[in-house]
Amino acid sequence: MATTRDALSEAQFRRLVDLIQGKVGIRLPPMKRVMVEARLRRRVRALDLPDLASYGEQVIEGTLSGEELVHLIDCVTTNKTDFFREPAHFDVLRDTIVPQALASQPRGGQLKVWSAACSTGAEPYTIAMVLDDMASRTPFRFQVMGTDISTQVLAQARRAIYPADMANAIPQALRRRYVMSARDPAAGDVRIVPELRRMVGFGRVNLMDAQYPVDRDMDVIFCRNVLIYFDRQTQRQVLDRLISHLRPGGWLLIGHSESMACHDNGGVRQIMPTVYQTDKARARAA
Ligand SMILES: C[S@@+](CC[C@H](N)C(=O)[O-])C[C@H]1O[C@@H](n2cnc3c(N)ncnc32)[C@H](O)[C@@H]1O
Repeated sequence: MATTRDALSEAQFRRLVDLIQGKVGIRLPPMKRVMVEARLRRRVRALDLPDLASYGEQVIEGTLSGEELVHLIDCVTTNKTDFFREPAHFDVLRDTIVPQALASQPRGGQLKVWSAACSTGAEPYTIAMVLDDMASRTPFRFQVMGTDISTQVLAQARRAIYPADMANAIPQALRRRYVMSARDPAAGDVRIVPELRRMVGFGRVNLMDAQYPVDRDMDVIFCRNVLIYFDRQTQRQVLDRLISHLRPGGWLLIGHSESMACHDNGGVRQIMPTVYQTDKARARAA
């Protein structure tokens, strides 16, 4: 039977909300409390604590280690993703962005794409499928990088194993080429083929950080379905920093339910809903 020690106190939950907002930029709404408490009970078991109230006392009110903070972030982030999610963006990538980027390539045909807040990797692998498919017809080189704040989703992204039904969103021809059965067929999972896995690198980047350890000459940045969780000021700061990592004439794609309304659009122009391009004449960021 549930006891009061099975829950966080009001004060502990408020402190958790502030802590997460400060570190991750996400303001947890009260309606998420039950979900967060359920996920934190896994940490209670992992740390061998008697109950959630003890977790609140020792971790949330106490001294939070860097390692526990990572677990805490894993517990509260929303990681929903899909292959070819918001598919119009991948049409734009194939039909507009890549042809224009290659035509103006200063690096001898190497395209650099960053999927910021990539969750379990479906987005960067989708990008890599589109690019590799194009490159198989007209060769060019590319790099795809996926980053996220959550170490848990990044580990899944590197494994590249997904429930079979997630692959249904991948067009058949690409699915045949880039998706295979996972080693344990009984589990019914699929895996991205090693050739494509090798083309995608992963790393941890907190979009709240003042600086990102990422090159400043990206051709394309996908930052989709994460801005929506940030307040307007954080959105503006994150957008400014992302734009500073694009080369002149580079593209930024945000989620279809997101907007740059919080931003003065300085240095970028909208080329279609949720797709922006930096000024071609823009001075390169230092
Ligand atoms: C809903 S998923 C979106 C995944 C993918 N971009 C898509 O559209 O399918 C949001 C992701 O943002 C990540 N995230 C949340 N806050 C973040 C932050 N401050 N820095 C980096 N990633 C963050 C979460 O861990 C989660 O994986």
